[in-house]
Amino acid sequence: PQRRAELKDKIRRLLKERNAVMVSHYYVHPDLQDLAEETGGLVSDSLEMARFGRDHAATTLVVSGVRFMGETAKILSPDKTILMPELEAHCSLDLGCPIDAFSAFCDAHPDRTVVVYANTSAAVKARADWLVTSSCALEIVAALHAKGHKILWAPDKHLGDYIQRQTGADMVMWQGSCIVHDEFKATELQALMHEHPDAKVLVHPESPADVIALADAVGSTSAILKAAREMDAREFIVATDNGMMHKLRTLNPGKTFIEAPTAGNSATCKSCAHCPWMAMNGLEAVAQVLEKGLNTIHVDPATAARARLPIDRMLAFTA
Ligand code: 13P
Ligand code: SF4
Repeated sequence: PQRRAELKDKIRRLLKERNAVMVSHYYVHPDLQDLAEETGGLVSDSLEMARFGRDHAATTLVVSGVRFMGETAKILSPDKTILMPELEAHCSLDLGCPIDAFSAFCDAHPDRTVVVYANTSAAVKARADWLVTSSCALEIVAALHAKGHKILWAPDKHLGDYIQRQTGADMVMWQGSCIVHDEFKATELQALMHEHPDAKVLVHPESPADVIALADAVGSTSAILKAAREMDAREFIVATDNGMMHKLRTLNPGKTFIEAPTAGNSATCKSCAHCPWMAMNGLEAVAQVLEKGLNTIHVDPATAARARLPIDRMLAFTA
């Protein structure tokens, strides 16, 4: 505990000295979430992280999350220094959608509007017409569908299927998935629901369709938080990364939050409800990168300029 307190003090001092602000995702360690908030930064979902970073006056942003979040910050703020505690913090959706194969997929469907999820590389974003996060994907695809667009969707197949079911849009889909949400299991969830008959079930739409079908509320991390606050229930079963539990519990002290079941145990489940890349972020690394100016995010300027168009569209749509 003393080491943690020292590191937190050091980070607070360095943030001030470097005119820096910290932005953390709900899935990173509670220390990094609390520190971001205490120091005038933000803990939030990927959409609001992007907007906050763009609009903040600081000259340096420390992005605690995964690589695509740092890249999005750089694309939106090319003049700011973007630091990340861990450059190898990837995402299975990003890794599973390499630009060459994705470009060929787009070339094969030239009549379709290309909608890509934020969890992608800058190069993939640069091929897109629209960027979406899980908090605005449904509304954006519904609006495009209403205007008669046919959609090319990438990379998360579960989120894409969910949106297709909700909107009836004509969508061809990349077959990527999140290694965390893909592990939630409907049969085990039903058994848990049986043990907690009054619990409401909150599900992130990167989860499989049969898990989504059991939900009382489906939505992004911020939508899950909102549902937990607003729903008239004392108990909730939550199917998303368990980093989320920190915020859910601190904001709802009288309510109980239970993790939805994954494949079962660490021998069979690759991620067990916690993203291994999000878990790479820590206090020690934040202090180091701030002190030494390490782990700066660079995005090729031409790619960044093109990738900015779909991101700006999303931010304007959701403003
Ligand atoms: P959001 O729901 O916060 O957009 O996050 C999805 C995600 O998986 C980030 O890694
Ligand atoms: Fe990617 Fe899933 Fe990790 Fe989010 S939780 S960064 S979608 S692998």
